[in-house]
Amino acid sequence: MKRTMPTEEAIKRWNLHAERFTAGYSEFGDRSRVLFLNPTIFSLLGDVDGKLILDAGCGEGYLSRILADKGARITAIDYSEKMLELAKARTREDLEIGYYHGNCENLSFLDDEQFDTSVSNMVIQDLEDYESCLQEMYRLLKPGASFVFSILHPCFITPDSGWIRNEQGVKEYWKVCRYFYEGVYDQRLPIQSNKPIVYYHRTLSSYVKAIISAGFTIEDIVEPKPSKEVLKEYPGYEEDLNCATFMVFKLRK
Ligand SMILES: C[S@@+](CC[C@H](N)C(=O)[O-])C[C@H]1O[C@@H](n2cnc3c(N)ncnc32)[C@H](O)[C@@H]1O
Repeated sequence: MKRTMPTEEAIKRWNLHAERFTAGYSEFGDRSRVLFLNPTIFSLLGDVDGKLILDAGCGEGYLSRILADKGARITAIDYSEKMLELAKARTREDLEIGYYHGNCENLSFLDDEQFDTSVSNMVIQDLEDYESCLQEMYRLLKPGASFVFSILHPCFITPDSGWIRNEQGVKEYWKVCRYFYEGVYDQRLPIQSNKPIVYYHRTLSSYVKAIISAGFTIEDIVEPKPSKEVLKEYPGYEEDLNCATFMVFKLRK
């Protein structure tokens, strides 16, 4: 059965767990960001120097800070007051980042067609109304501008997906189930909370239909996979290459 959860309730949970969620972040984010997401996002964004960029769902702001260090002028938005608090506290004054409290599903306080690029890192699967967010990104971009966003791979990370282990606890294979379920489900973060952070699952075709109906053209899709060289520095991560965990889109207005 489909479960729903209003955005306001989902955000209360981000406020509750913001510190814990970002506790393992370095200036480059967490390990998944370092290994999988950052290299892909930077390659898809290309040269950002001098560009006006929207970071939609900036969280504690690591990506905004890196992009600002590369010369971009950043408008960073998050709906969690706690995340914004952390972001502001972690940001040097000389960086050109404006932090705003806002819901990515409705950013009516921002004028049309003002951004050269927009980026949203691991946020769209956290939104109840992802279709409105895509429409807002389209509205806010200049004609011809691009939108780069990452999500959990909807084909492999589904409600109740996870490793099946043998009696010795050794990982045997990755279980995927309830792929066609569309709605909210609990993350295992933090493990013991009775109010965990939530995701909203949708099928790949639902994402693609929403992208097209917002008006975008899909320019690229990447399923990030770090090189063996990089993985040598992170023992234990090889088994996570069993299937794709993330999917990154580059869209063009
Ligand atoms: C997985 S975190 C990613 C944060 C950041 N982009 C990063 O990569 O570290 C998801 C973020 O989306 C924010 N978020 C969730 N729903 C939102 C909404 N409706 N509008 C704006 N931000 C939202 C959360 O507060 C959280 O900071």
